[in-house]
Amino acid sequence: MKILVTGGAGFIGANFLNLLVPRHPEHTFVNADKLTYAANLASLADIAGAANYVFRRTDIADAAAVDALFDEQAPDIVIHFAAESHVDRSISGPREFVRTNIEGTFNLLEAARRIWKDGQGLFHHVSTDEVYGSLGAEGMFTEDTRYDPSSPYSASKAASDHLVRAYHRTFKLPVKLTNCSNNYGPLQFPEKLIPLMIMNAQDGKPLPVYGQGTNVRDWLYVQDHCEAIWTVVQRGAVGETYNIGGNNEVKNIDVVHGLCRVLAEETGRPAEALLGLITYVKDRPGHDLRYAIDATKIREHLGWSPKETFETGLRKTVRWYLDHHAWVDQVRTGEYRNWIEQNYDRR
Ligand code: NAD
Ligand code: DAU
Repeated sequence: MKILVTGGAGFIGANFLNLLVPRHPEHTFVNADKLTYAANLASLADIAGAANYVFRRTDIADAAAVDALFDEQAPDIVIHFAAESHVDRSISGPREFVRTNIEGTFNLLEAARRIWKDGQGLFHHVSTDEVYGSLGAEGMFTEDTRYDPSSPYSASKAASDHLVRAYHRTFKLPVKLTNCSNNYGPLQFPEKLIPLMIMNAQDGKPLPVYGQGTNVRDWLYVQDHCEAIWTVVQRGAVGETYNIGGNNEVKNIDVVHGLCRVLAEETGRPAEALLGLITYVKDRPGHDLRYAIDATKIREHLGWSPKETFETGLRKTVRWYLDHHAWVDQVRTGEYRNWIEQNYDRR
């Protein structure tokens, strides 16, 4: 099988490829990524030379480039990770979110519809629980929860989900969707809560907690998400949506406290000094209060369940950031962009 993975140089896509490329030498994985600020080719160093791995720098919002990619590679399966993914950036600059998340998904669907005939192919759309909006103190998101996105990011992901479903209903394109809760783990860019806090704490910088720190997220270790996606690709029903979550609801302030405690244990620094870095800052506009996923469907229909608890996953994540100095330093200094610039931008 030829499997086209979009956005494979980002956090989840790179974890996915690092897991799947060595495990499945019988498949070829084509990574199509624009290499935005969120991409890091160092994250793919272990598989870059693999015989069953191909990289093609591609902007999915460029319809001609997407068409050329599909003509060249003729994928059997598309696993679509590529997106602008950061909520705060969607508030300060929403345009790129519409371009990549909506137009980019549309271009991929059009290309897939052009090359796949008579029920051929599979388009797996990787999406988010943020399309469902915010929960109050009670309840959980199921696959039937009404869409109610709050941010330009989640609205653009909601639009892309609707397009994917419409292509299934109207054109019979074989699609599957997964909507997942907050991921954490190795290789995450430090704009997201957990890696930002780890790197700031290491640097002795403030740990900025939005509002009162009482917002709740449902945390899932990234490799558990990747295994869930692969499970759905292999055994999920065409046309279906599966919610993915870790059953790990934690208030943001408790996440930060937990991180300070684990960092103190792993580095020998006093926990009080790290906790003293916590700074309450202005809240995010439209900040969703609480997310919680009901993952009954994927568990009961496909037998997937997460392997990591938040406790074990958080410690693994802290250890990963402490042990991978080269990756962390290149991100901290911005040097990770140089390779991309030298190899691509100046060509
Ligand atoms: P990320 O921001 O770390 O990576 C996104 C990747 O997409 C980058 O490599 C970037 O270069 C690429 N990209 C962006 N614009 C592109 C374009 N126009 N053309 C081609 N490539 C482009 O994101 P992530 O956290 O790895 O998220 C991956 C997917 O998973 C997204 O669709 C996101 O909505 C979804 N998701 C993320 C989470 C999470 O907690 N991070 C949870 C649920 C779902
Ligand atoms: O729920 C899935 C979503 O999770 C994904 O679709 C998104 O791509 C991903 O970015 C993530 O969105 P969040 O907005 O929940 O993640 P973020 O790490 O930005 O923030 C997590 C929580 O922490 C949120 O309530 C805001 C808060 N926060 C975040 C940052 C960056 C802070 O308090 N301080 C911070 O500095």
